[in-house]
Amino acid sequence: MAKTISLLGLQWGDEGKGKVVDHLAKDLDAAIRYQGGHNAGHTLIVDGKKIVFHLLPSAICHADIHCYIGRGVVVSLDALFEEIEEAEQVIGNIEDRLTVSSACSLIQPYHIKLDQLREGSKKLTKIGTTGRGIGTAYEDRVGRRSIRVTDLYSENKLRDKLEEALDFYNSIFNHSFKSSEIDLNELFDKNLKHGEELKPYVGNVIQEVRDLQNANKKILFEGAQGALLDVSLGTYPYVTSSNSSVGGIASGIGISPTNIDFSLGIAKAYTTRVGEGPFPTELFDSMGTYLAEKGGEVGATTGRPRRCGWLDAFLLSHAVKLNGIDGLCITKIDVLDGLETIKVCTDYSSDISNPELIETLTLEGVEPVYKEFKGWDEPTAGKQAFEELNDKAKEFILNIEDLCEVPVIMISTGPKREDTIIRKHPL
Ligand code: IMP
Repeated sequence: MAKTISLLGLQWGDEGKGKVVDHLAKDLDAAIRYQGGHNAGHTLIVDGKKIVFHLLPSAICHADIHCYIGRGVVVSLDALFEEIEEAEQVIGNIEDRLTVSSACSLIQPYHIKLDQLREGSKKLTKIGTTGRGIGTAYEDRVGRRSIRVTDLYSENKLRDKLEEALDFYNSIFNHSFKSSEIDLNELFDKNLKHGEELKPYVGNVIQEVRDLQNANKKILFEGAQGALLDVSLGTYPYVTSSNSSVGGIASGIGISPTNIDFSLGIAKAYTTRVGEGPFPTELFDSMGTYLAEKGGEVGATTGRPRRCGWLDAFLLSHAVKLNGIDGLCITKIDVLDGLETIKVCTDYSSDISNPELIETLTLEGVEPVYKEFKGWDEPTAGKQAFEELNDKAKEFILNIEDLCEVPVIMISTGPKREDTIIRKHPL
């Protein structure tokens, strides 16, 4: 039986991971975020109230689960405190159930400002970021000049590091963007105050996770974004700045890669993407609008409309292999209810060979090759057993299994917790 389970989005994010975490929660003891920051948006309905988690693991809304923010996450303390306050009102007892690694890099106001200035510039490539300073904070991390949580408790070091950072950033704001500077004293005081406020949450995640493993506890590694947004393996440069594939887990927490017992991959029954970048199966016609409207496809973090298209099983199959996926969860199949024809991309037609496409994922200009499926009239919405699905929907799911060479073990048939089919429980 699996003790540790990774939950990974296999498309461009927004696959419906929050709902799957919610479903697994009753069997979990702990959940860990290990990459990204408050760019994520996991929407949950708790006691009839909608709550969106950006930075906290979404498992926090279950009172018996201890949650961790691992070293691979870039943390905005403004965002964290805001989210804790919100979660405290709905769920309570967060202080006793949340540990933040003292090795996390912090997102500072200059990261957010530079991210937004770059995105707003007409001269620079627009990525369509969430504007939350994620990429700029990771730049400092790999540049070995991040301010980490632990630095908040060493006043001289903190002041020196902030001074060095502001020398650099203020000169860019001034000279490259003709924008205002950030004041050192104000920023220093804010960091000290934040450090005090954060103290009850700071901990040694590596040791605590080892203790959990030794006690045979069930742990979820909760991915954010999706495999195709991975900085190394995704559709570069239109990616986020962290390793959102399975590779991010070991370095983002401090465990061995062999410590993952089961990898659960999440994919929508169609595809969506927010921000810029290639999207071969994107639909620009009324079908795209239909999927967007019926699927409620609006970004949970930025409120931007999501681009919509058919399921890309060519990319999904690649993401399954990259991430060693043991089982798939297909979400939002009910959005396809009532369509006459459903298409699934199985290959690309392109001058470039598939191995070369996969190596770089530069997908501009490739043409999808589609397999067409007959749609179904009898709704899948709300179904809770595979046997209850109509034959056409079953055929659609079985074809995904064939194309991706992995079992579909869960199917989400609606937004409510109980609208779920479990063919094999991953824990
Ligand atoms: P960043 O992560 O804010 O730097 O944005 C980089 C790209 O990743 C943009 O296209 C964003 O829309 C996308 N992105 C970041 N986080 C998410 C997410 O949680 N869901 C979907 N797309 C995301």
